[in-house]
Amino acid sequence: MKAILLAGGKGTRLRPLTIHTPKPIVPIFNRPFLNYQIDLLKQVPEIDEVILSLNYQPRRIEEIFGDGSDLGITIRYVVEPAPLGTAGAVKYAGDKLTESVVVFNGDVLTQIDLAGVIRLHRERKARATIVLTPVDNPTAYGLVDTDPSGNIRRFLEKPNPDEITTNNINAGIYVLEPDTFDRIPSHVPWSIERSYFPSLIERRETFVAYIHNGYWIDIGTPAKYTQVHRDIMDGRYAAAPFQGIAEPRTWIAGDVKIEDGATVGGPCFIDEGVLIKAGAKVGPYSVIGRQTQIEEDTVIGGAVIWPNCRISRDAIVRDAIIGRNCHIGRSVSVTAGAVLGDRTTLTDFTRV
Ligand code: GDD
Ligand code: MG
Repeated sequence: MKAILLAGGKGTRLRPLTIHTPKPIVPIFNRPFLNYQIDLLKQVPEIDEVILSLNYQPRRIEEIFGDGSDLGITIRYVVEPAPLGTAGAVKYAGDKLTESVVVFNGDVLTQIDLAGVIRLHRERKARATIVLTPVDNPTAYGLVDTDPSGNIRRFLEKPNPDEITTNNINAGIYVLEPDTFDRIPSHVPWSIERSYFPSLIERRETFVAYIHNGYWIDIGTPAKYTQVHRDIMDGRYAAAPFQGIAEPRTWIAGDVKIEDGATVGGPCFIDEGVLIKAGAKVGPYSVIGRQTQIEEDTVIGGAVIWPNCRISRDAIVRDAIIGRNCHIGRSVSVTAGAVLGDRTTLTDFTRV
């Protein structure tokens, strides 16, 4: 069985982080995001090939995963000449498929019984099966109404607040029958959410729901990107590198240097080669990437800092995301949801 990962979006809501790092490979701690999805797919032995459907900066992604042999799974790449939308991408990547295929949005992280989803699809002899999950506010997602037997009756992408009839949304995980792809036109952008799913309903094809009540998140905004780190540090989602680490879940690489008089409070993640100088305070929910330097009397908390940054003395970095190779000057304060792109330089005393 094959799985298609839709990983061709531009990641606009995660800009500026995604200018140099496509969303599928933004780091979650020290691993590119897709590693976590591939871990999940590998739990289903029947899945023997992952097809990465790419468009935006495909080379960067190929360089990281290669043919998949390091991960113990076969990876194939299909790069669209131009973005074809979610349905167009599935058709383009899965044109030659003859058996049921698993499709994943390339930005969702979840603890799901994927084998159970495939089982339901087969038991119900469905043409398509879609995983639903409840969220507080469905407006940013695809709203899905079902009947009491679990058949999908309505699919409404990005509903207005007055159109909300349920909390169940499309979790971005499907099992599809390739012979339903005939309705998707070739070589023009087409949406799985706005066209393909509504067409299954219109034609009264067997289109069923699998409700997932466990952990689920779409990492596609800065707030959610930060949240996923917190969830893993808090043990709400069990994932490397925090799997099996006891409270207060603190992961510090072997060669990290913490000078006398610096303090580190968990949960936190401090990667290889980090230097934390005297008087610095690294507080809960800090994630500090490789080779970053935290200078004297700095205060860090709730921040995700990518590799190779320099945070100068007396700076405060709180509840912010800082891209690679940034230079934060002395006494700078970066707080309250700020997001800095790679190579940002902030002059001493700047406030963001
Ligand atoms: N190959 C390819 N080509 N991939 C694409 C394209 C394209 O043209 N457009 C989007 N993608 C990929 C994105 O990279 C992402 O992994 C996935 O398709 C979904 O796109 P998003 O842009 O993240 O959509 P969304 O988050 O607003 O909404 C989607 O996901 C929600 C769940 O997180 C929809 O499927 C909603 O219905 C759903 O609730
Ligand atoms: Mg998304």
